[in-house]
Amino acid sequence: MRKNRLRLAGAVAAFVVAAGLGAGSPAQASDRPASERQASEQEASDRQAGDRQPTLADLAQRHGRYFGSATDNPELTDGPYVALLGSEFDQITPGNGMKWYATEPEQGVFDFSQGDEVVNLARANRQKVRGHTLVWHSQLPEWLTAREWTAPELRAVLKKHIQTEVRHYRGKVFAWDVVNEAFNEDGTYRETVFYKTLGPGYIADALRWAHQADPRVKLYLNDYNIEGIGPKSDAYHRLAKELKAQRVPLHGIGFQAHLALQYGYPTTLEDNLRRFSRLGLDTALTEVDVRMQLPATEEKLAQQAQWYRDLTEACLAVRRCVGVTLWDYTDKYSWIPAFFPGEGAALPWDEQLLPKPAYFALREALGGR
Ligand code: G3I
Repeated sequence: MRKNRLRLAGAVAAFVVAAGLGAGSPAQASDRPASERQASEQEASDRQAGDRQPTLADLAQRHGRYFGSATDNPELTDGPYVALLGSEFDQITPGNGMKWYATEPEQGVFDFSQGDEVVNLARANRQKVRGHTLVWHSQLPEWLTAREWTAPELRAVLKKHIQTEVRHYRGKVFAWDVVNEAFNEDGTYRETVFYKTLGPGYIADALRWAHQADPRVKLYLNDYNIEGIGPKSDAYHRLAKELKAQRVPLHGIGFQAHLALQYGYPTTLEDNLRRFSRLGLDTALTEVDVRMQLPATEEKLAQQAQWYRDLTEACLAVRRCVGVTLWDYTDKYSWIPAFFPGEGAALPWDEQLLPKPAYFALREALGGR
């Protein structure tokens, strides 16, 4: 109990500092362990010297990486949430606003208002934006899913969607998740409308069309459950090798990293990232969260913190792993409880926007205090 109180006091003080909200909580200083006390004395002297505590983004930049978060349009009315999103991260990904259902709600009628809102916020905060996502079997508009298409029809629809969206965001996003979740767990192609109608070549076509529309933007394939070496990540490795051999413009692989304590940590993550680097590709951890069965206990939160530390260290250890993105940063806006009933607490900040042990583990992994 006492330990819990101390942990919370430390977390609140660090949050106040991290959020740039002013002095820490000196009243509790003598209760805290020596290491925390030292860090907070250093922070206090940094503040006196006019310095602010480095953010996760600052720390990541020292390694030539970015540290980002997803966000979603409805959340942008939450002032304290937006403040932390703008101060702690140097990269954001729109969680839904650039998906097909949002951007082409009627055939040939484009609406970029939600994505633009995120891009404008990012610009104001000097953050880079990852475009997410052009081709995915989920969150498609009804006009697309409600009818049958011939191959030539669907090719034209796909090409127009990709090129209109990529052109719209040219120079505004640094990377695109071009094709999302193309494989099944066993490494076979997912039988999406695109695969069934166009065959596996739709992936190379999508990459080529995106490249024509913005020759500078980095083009990624992105998926979940490919963090460790196994049939699904092997499928990506095989495909990436083929695409590179055919000079298809593929620049990176996104590892979503939606992890769950009950399924174990993907211990081959670092080796896996490295084998993609060896193909001449960038890698990124694009949608990180670490969920658990509720209630969250001190032990589970400590294990979660360790996983956040491990995955960040894995990225830092591999030269071409360019950055880490949380799939939103606070439990307040996590997608997990709605999709996995009974699970949650997956992110480094809690529902009150207070940092959890995972936040401090991230700082340490990035070389901060
Ligand atoms: O827009 C409607 C709104 O009108 C309605 O009132 C509300 C009521 O439920 O639903 C809203 O749609 C929701 C949408 O998010 C926008 O908030 C959908 O129900 C909900 O299913 C949808 O969830 C998104 C999910 O993708 C869909 O698969 C999550 O927010 C989003 O975080 C999640 O992100 C995906 C990545 O794109 C790809 N990788 C996996 C990741 C997690 O599923």
